Amino acid sequence: MSLNIDKIRKDFPELSREVNNKPLIYLDNAASTLKCQSVIDAVNTHYSNEASNIHRGVHFLSEQGTRKFEETRIKIASFINSPEVETVIFTKGTTESLNLVAECFGRLEFKAGDEILISTMEHHSNIVPWQMIAERTGAVVREIPVNDLGEIDLEAYKRLLSPKVKMVSTAHVSNSLGTINPIKEMITLAHSVGAKFTVDAAQSIAHLKVDVQELGCDFLAFSAHKMFGPTGVGVLWGKKELFDKMPPYQGGGDMIDVVTIEKTTYNDLPHKFEAGTPHIAGVIALKEAVEYIEKIGLENIAAMEHELLEYATRKISEIEGVRIIGTSAKKSAVISFVMDEAHPHDIGTLLDKQGIAIRTGHHCTQPLMERFCIPATARASFSFYNTKEEVDRLIDGIRKVKEFF
Ligand code: ALA
Repeated sequence: MSLNIDKIRKDFPELSREVNNKPLIYLDNAASTLKCQSVIDAVNTHYSNEASNIHRGVHFLSEQGTRKFEETRIKIASFINSPEVETVIFTKGTTESLNLVAECFGRLEFKAGDEILISTMEHHSNIVPWQMIAERTGAVVREIPVNDLGEIDLEAYKRLLSPKVKMVSTAHVSNSLGTINPIKEMITLAHSVGAKFTVDAAQSIAHLKVDVQELGCDFLAFSAHKMFGPTGVGVLWGKKELFDKMPPYQGGGDMIDVVTIEKTTYNDLPHKFEAGTPHIAGVIALKEAVEYIEKIGLENIAAMEHELLEYATRKISEIEGVRIIGTSAKKSAVISFVMDEAHPHDIGTLLDKQGIAIRTGHHCTQPLMERFCIPATARASFSFYNTKEEVDRLIDGIRKVKEFF
């Protein structure tokens, strides 16, 4: 399939705007992707013509909203190849999804002395929830180290695995470095000692094929806003037999079966984990985002982004005094770098003056920054709608930063 990049870019209205009197170059896709017109239209249509609550009314609008909301669940189930639809749980985002697993699985399964393995490269949202449940249950969080290339040390991981390990939770793709972790192999290893495996797929879901049955994971979390969808919506997928045993996360409407003042019985999946009125417009619009990804094709997306990654890596490496952090051969299109002359924050500010949006800081991965003995990086993260011309502008921008200092 040959893709017309100019046509694709027109699907994302923000790509036509200017920032600081320069055409916007948006290279902060790991933080949040831009939104395609069909997603924007779906949110707009919901609020301007179809707003109502779901799962509650017998009236037309409520039934229409319920149908559209549930259609997204079916779409997501097929997108990630879930064997069931009801094991797709809508949350606020990856962070809430990971908190839900840690809290509900942990409350059920963890006891003093049990171990939870996470890697050095995890986002804080895949560290802190495990620490919180460990503190309450007496379980212990242990670290899978990362090598100098920014890859999970598989030999160290194997040594850490024992029957004491009840959960392993790692990113599929590192948000700070772009490393694609060998999670399929890691999941098989975790299962060989009886541990469950949670995948943080926030950074892979819009870039690589994610198939829960092929991976064999027990839980998988991701956010809509990193896949061209709205903010405030995420997904937690889990194995049915685990979800069935786990206690609910929050109490409230929709998650109940029968309530008396003495006692409550709970609703079936997925409602058991979806208390309260959800982000209806956001969930409905997420279907459009998935359909957009399917229209372009994940294989095409991966190929286009890989080309950008290779081109940008080569160009950035040519600039003297710039060092890329995260140099695994298996990477998604994320380039973190530091410069001899300038602090990442200054790099970000000066690039912004040229209309170029990157992220700077610790990227919510402080242990990883400590591992590389740096306080922060400048990070350019690409999506398939970026171009080589934009990479050239980034390179010019970095050279200007060098001159400035
Ligand atoms: N987790 C997002 C990032 O890496 C916010 O920028």
